[in-house]
Amino acid sequence: MKKSLSKSQFIRLTNIMQNDMIKKHSKVLKRRKSMAKNYFDLTGQVAIVTGASTGLGVQMAKALANQGCNIVALARRQNLIDEVAAEIEKEYGVKAVGIRCDITDTESVEAAVDAALKEFGRINILINNAGTGGVHPAEDMPDETFENEMNIDLFGTFKVARSVAKKAMIPAKYGRIINIASMYGLVGNKIAPTACYHAAKGGVVNLTRALAAEWGEKGINVNSICPGYFYTPLTEETLNSEFFQNYAKTMIPLARYGNEGELDSAAIFLASPASSYVNGQNIAVDGGYTCM
Ligand SMILES: NC(=O)c1ccc[n+]([C@@H]2O[C@H](COP(=O)([O-])OP(=O)(O)OC[C@H]3O[C@@H](n4cnc5c(N)ncnc54)[C@H](O)[C@@H]3O)[C@@H](O)[C@H]2O)c1
Repeated sequence: MKKSLSKSQFIRLTNIMQNDMIKKHSKVLKRRKSMAKNYFDLTGQVAIVTGASTGLGVQMAKALANQGCNIVALARRQNLIDEVAAEIEKEYGVKAVGIRCDITDTESVEAAVDAALKEFGRINILINNAGTGGVHPAEDMPDETFENEMNIDLFGTFKVARSVAKKAMIPAKYGRIINIASMYGLVGNKIAPTACYHAAKGGVVNLTRALAAEWGEKGINVNSICPGYFYTPLTEETLNSEFFQNYAKTMIPLARYGNEGELDSAAIFLASPASSYVNGQNIAVDGGYTCM
């Protein structure tokens, strides 16, 4: 026999159901909020940033520091990295040190990684950013120009990754390596004779995949970023020329160079818990240059 609810019973029941739904919904919201708050948090972590005396390295070091990360700035000019470290400590309230390192010199790399470990006891993140840019017509390119480019941009990048992985990340079964390649590592170009740079940066993109495959099981995510044109001491003179500016307008869908800070979010993403299942990938931050 069916028994219908009285009006007051019906109202009581719908109230109970509504309260239940509100409770469930607020639990979900709370969980979402805490995920959003923690996703990009790097508090207490330690990052080595190579080439952090000028340009993009300084920008990315500051971006990580802004997320609470302690910073080891590596480069060759001690006075510059000391200044950068002092600025970071003052601006972001994290610990930062400058350690001299020539990434082409294996002993210097090993000593710098040892010094970083002595200072912090761990290295969770490596931004492998130090690099240079060789320019010479390919048909006349001196061996030294090509070798220098390979030694710094490709071999140097490998040397730092090798040391940090072996001494810090593999023992900790955790690490994030972010190699800074270039959009020129994905394509050629018609405006500047930089074959050696394309070769080295293309090498960095595929080195990233190989290391990701080899070290994934050891808890290390290895990814790369391919920046487009950004103003830095390395590129300032070229990017300032009218000829180059007109070229960039036609070649870049966004019709402009990258601005200071526009590389930061990719670096933070790849360094943070937000990218835990991203491995062996490349993010081009190039205004769309490589999409055409
Ligand atoms: N600026 C751009 O438009 C652009 C575009 C694509 C890729 N990149 C890449 O981004 C990275 C940073 O470049 P940037 O534009 O900031 O240039 P930059 O010249 O301002 O910075 C390069 C840094 O690397 C350091 N470095 C060079 N050789 C080194 C060595 N042997 N040992 C240790 N440190 C060394 C320099 O001292 C400097 O701190 C480079 O790998 C570069 O190829 C830059």
